[in-house]
Amino acid sequence: MSDKMEGASMTGSARPGGAAEVFEQAAPNYDRTGVSFFGPFGAELVRRAAIRPGERVLDVGCGRGAVLFPAAHATGPTGHVTGIDLAPAMVALTAEDVTRAGLTHVDVRVDDAQQPDFPPRSFDAVLAGLVVFLLPQPQQALRAYARLLRSSGRLVISTFGAQDPAFVAATDALAAHLPTDQARPARPAGPFADEQAITATMDGAGLTVTSIVAHRIESRFDDVDHWVRWMWSHGGRALLQHLPADRLPAATADAAQALDAARDAGGGLSLTTEIRITVAVPADRTGDLPPPSHV
Ligand SMILES: C[S@@+](CC[C@H](N)C(=O)[O-])C[C@H]1O[C@@H](n2cnc3c(N)ncnc32)[C@H](O)[C@@H]1O
Repeated sequence: MSDKMEGASMTGSARPGGAAEVFEQAAPNYDRTGVSFFGPFGAELVRRAAIRPGERVLDVGCGRGAVLFPAAHATGPTGHVTGIDLAPAMVALTAEDVTRAGLTHVDVRVDDAQQPDFPPRSFDAVLAGLVVFLLPQPQQALRAYARLLRSSGRLVISTFGAQDPAFVAATDALAAHLPTDQARPARPAGPFADEQAITATMDGAGLTVTSIVAHRIESRFDDVDHWVRWMWSHGGRALLQHLPADRLPAATADAAQALDAARDAGGGLSLTTEIRITVAVPADRTGDLPPPSHV
């Protein structure tokens, strides 16, 4: 693992303060705060990828395994799943979970999702759950994934769709307390903003989209403190860690007010999140595919 760590290039996401550093700190609690979010999204991505027993799968930006473990179940021991992530703590903790689960057909290593280090045509499926929008050059990364696919291969990615208005209001309330020189969190935009943009981005990477499907889940939080703990446990910490300590109580109070709109009958909070799951195949291997289905 250490050789790969040293070999990993310093992309924008690997640099200090970049996405991978945020996730390095988040790793111990990532997807471990009792909130249904990454797990069901990862399971749905794998379902859409229609992985068959015996297939070879790459999971880029594997995190704590929300995609990796369902994929390993789908390939079975006659197949193989490799997970890569740029955050060494994510890799170390997920590797421990893999060993504990006795999955000998799974390996996890530090590698850069911007340019994964594998020979061409190594995989039947490349999967990327909630990661491509974090990369400094997403279209180049997608092009690299296309090269890794075998002739029957497919790329399956998930990206964020509509966010719950109460979540947007709460993060805006937090961001209002950031120092003026600190960049505000970006809303989904650019290459994955909507179905048209995703299709164009894939096209430019030499991939043909065969389907884009929206999938929504509801996540429940006991109270605002639980929501804040969850925010610290994933990419949300990129926002929280830049709040000056003396602003935190006021920022949290403002977020709590915004989250009032999400109160449910049990006194907790319920937030709905939508992702889009896109399936694409290398354009040079498309043949006579049916037109893409967008749901
Ligand atoms: C939002 S998490 C998604 C993790 C997992 N796929 C899931 O669905 O739960 C994004 C993951 O991408 C990783 N990541 C960010 N930039 C990366 C890069 N350049 N190369 C590899 N992994 C990266 C982070 O460390 C983090 O584990």
